[in-house]
Amino acid sequence: MDFQQIKEMDAQYIEGTYGRADVCIAKGKNATGWDLDGKSYIDFSSGIGVNSLGFCDNEWSKAVAEQAQTMQHISNLYYTIPGPNAAKKICEKTGFKKVFFGNSGAEANEGAIKAARKYSFDKYGAEAGRNEIVTLMNSFHGRTIATLTATGQDVFHNYFFPFVGGFQYAKAGDIDDVKQKVSDKTCAVMLEFIQGEGGVIPQDKSFIQKLFAFCQSRDILVIADEVQTGVGRTGEFLCCENFDVKPDLVTLAKGLGGGLPIGAVLFGEKVENVMGPGSHGTTFGANPVSCAGANVVLDRLDRAFLDSVKEKGEYLKGKIEKMPNVKSVTGMGMMLGIALEKNDSKTVVGKCIENGLIILTAKEKVRLLPPLTITYEEMDKGLAVLEKVLSNL
Ligand SMILES: Cc1ncc(COP(=O)(O)O)c(C=O)c1O
Repeated sequence: MDFQQIKEMDAQYIEGTYGRADVCIAKGKNATGWDLDGKSYIDFSSGIGVNSLGFCDNEWSKAVAEQAQTMQHISNLYYTIPGPNAAKKICEKTGFKKVFFGNSGAEANEGAIKAARKYSFDKYGAEAGRNEIVTLMNSFHGRTIATLTATGQDVFHNYFFPFVGGFQYAKAGDIDDVKQKVSDKTCAVMLEFIQGEGGVIPQDKSFIQKLFAFCQSRDILVIADEVQTGVGRTGEFLCCENFDVKPDLVTLAKGLGGGLPIGAVLFGEKVENVMGPGSHGTTFGANPVSCAGANVVLDRLDRAFLDSVKEKGEYLKGKIEKMPNVKSVTGMGMMLGIALEKNDSKTVVGKCIENGLIILTAKEKVRLLPPLTITYEEMDKGLAVLEKVLSNL
């Protein structure tokens, strides 16, 4: 089947929710993909932060294939081997107490929202009405109705009325505004340490520390949405480590399975046992094949690996800052946002694809989320394309 036929089939049968680049990636190895004609592309996107070990890492592919050939699914009504193993590794790496596995970032956030509300319901009673969640403006938390509502951007609050109640929005970086939006109805504050979709904008450390201290003093839980920042992306297993804070609930997804659908809610001490039997569930949760992939990712992310993420991130940042048309580079580790002098990230993305480099946008910025295993040779090839494109804007 040729590319034209694939495009026609896609247009005819797939609901058109995405504008796609004019390329079909047919195979890949580490940070290099190939289209149907064999043209190569350096991947600075890892499938929006998902392929943390790149395309088809040998160990990962073997573990996933073996699990698929052994036992692919049985449901959460029975014990399985890969799920508890993955949960143990996450808890040992992070100090969190328990894990709930789901399928995506939005679903993980839904789980965390439920857990936060149940914590207050159990402790303060239904009559207290302590169920509101304060999120930050310019955030992104997902595409379900509740996570769209949680998302602090008006542009997402359209078409799908009615949205759910119980969310307030505070200005990121403004502790006084957070305090103002918190009331005796608030059960949690939910935030991204680096707003990813919002433009790769790291929060100010002192704001975060004040926010955590304030929340703790009021028994308000902090939910950290680490769907994009988690699993080594910033050079720490969790981004909260960069801010010296410990949230009550953390959500993970994207990079956790190394390319398979999996999300997770991490429960800290306060909320360790808040979700009892029957309170939550999902058919595909802790899927053995996804967890087999996650186990390889989790085993790989030791201190030396995380340090290499920081080094590669610094390398990319240093090179990009010197390129023409670059105003600034934000982010941490291998989660980088590039503000352009000429404000045209979509054109840059299109021209990079034409020249064999896959990158992303985040609002008006260019966003890079390379596989954490990218080699220096692959980075240099990608950087050469980026420099050429930025020079010719
Ligand atoms: C911070 C954050 N939260 C939640 C989500 C939603 O994740 P998913 O698309 O897996 O539902 C995303 C996706 O981009 C994200 O970046």
